[in-house]
Amino acid sequence: MTRKGGTLGNVPKIAVIGAGNVGATLAMRIAESGLAEVVLLDVYKSLAQGKALDIFDSSGMNHSLRPIQGTDDFSSISGSSIVVITAGLARTPGMAREELALKNAVIVKAISSEIRLRAPDSVIIVVTNPLDTMTYLAYKTSAFPRAKVLGMAGVLDESRFKALIASELNVETNDIETVIMGGHGDTMVPVLSHTRVKKALLMELLPEKKIDELIIRIRGRGAEIVSLLGSGSAYYSPSLAAFRMAEAIVYDRKEVITASVFLNGEYGLRDICAGVPVKLGRSGIEEIVEIKLTDRERSLFMESARVIRQGNAKL
Ligand code: 2OP
Repeated sequence: MTRKGGTLGNVPKIAVIGAGNVGATLAMRIAESGLAEVVLLDVYKSLAQGKALDIFDSSGMNHSLRPIQGTDDFSSISGSSIVVITAGLARTPGMAREELALKNAVIVKAISSEIRLRAPDSVIIVVTNPLDTMTYLAYKTSAFPRAKVLGMAGVLDESRFKALIASELNVETNDIETVIMGGHGDTMVPVLSHTRVKKALLMELLPEKKIDELIIRIRGRGAEIVSLLGSGSAYYSPSLAAFRMAEAIVYDRKEVITASVFLNGEYGLRDICAGVPVKLGRSGIEEIVEIKLTDRERSLFMESARVIRQGNAKL
C-alpha cells in the first residue's frame, strides 16, 4: 500500500516492531501526525499488513497522512531514524511485568540483532516489558552507543501521576511538573521534591497519606488496566508516550524527559538501565540530567535499581 519503500524527501522513517495494540496505535499516531513514514513490522505479516492498510485508508480523510507499510521483512526497516520495539507478550491479570522476562528476552534479543544489522544509525525506543531489563538487553545486543537506546516508561508514569493529581486538586495537567525515576514497576520513585503544582510543592498541597495513596495508584495503574481489560495491557497512553519521545528526537527538541537508559556512574549506578531524566534530541540522549534527590528519594531509587538488577540477573 502507498509508496513502496524509500522515504519522502527529508521525511524520516520510523519502524515499529510489533503490530499489537501498542505498536499499531503508535504507528497510527506517527502516520496521522505527519511525523514520519512508517514501517509496521510483525512476525504475523498479515496482521501488520491489515493494520497498515486500515491506517492508509484514512488518507482520504487525513491529507497529511504519511506512507505506511506492513511487513514481516526486517530489510524494510533499513534507513529508519527510530526503531520502536513493542513486540512481546503482554501481562495477563495478576501477572507482574517481571514474569514476562524470559519469553520477551528472546524476542527483544532477536529484534535488536536485526536492528543492529539493518538500521545501525537508528535510535531504539524500547516499550516491551519488563521495561528496564528489556532496555538493558536491547542496549547490550545492539551494541549501540548508550545515547541511542532508551526505554519508554517515565513519560507514561509521569502522565498518570499528573492525571491523578489534576483530578485530586482540580487543576490542569500542564500546571503540574513531576519526575518519576527508577524501575517501571512497583518500585518506581515519584520524586516529590521535584513535584509541583503551579510552582508549589505537592507536599504543601496534599497530606502525606493522600500522596501515598496516589503513588500506590500509579504504581499499580498498569496492572489495574490489565485486570479491567482481561487480556492485553494499556496501549493508548503507552503509545502516546512513545510517540512523544519519537517527536522529541525527530524535531531535535533538546527536551528533558524521563527514560530508562544505560547508566555508567550517573546517580552512583553502573551496568544497569533505569529511569532518569535525559535531554532528548536528534541523536538520541544528549545528556543524562542528574537532579538533586533527598536522602529518602535516593534510597528509594537505589532500592528500585536493586530490583531491576535482580530481574537482569534472571536472564
Ligand atoms: C503499563 O504500565 C504497559 O507497562 C505498561 O501499562
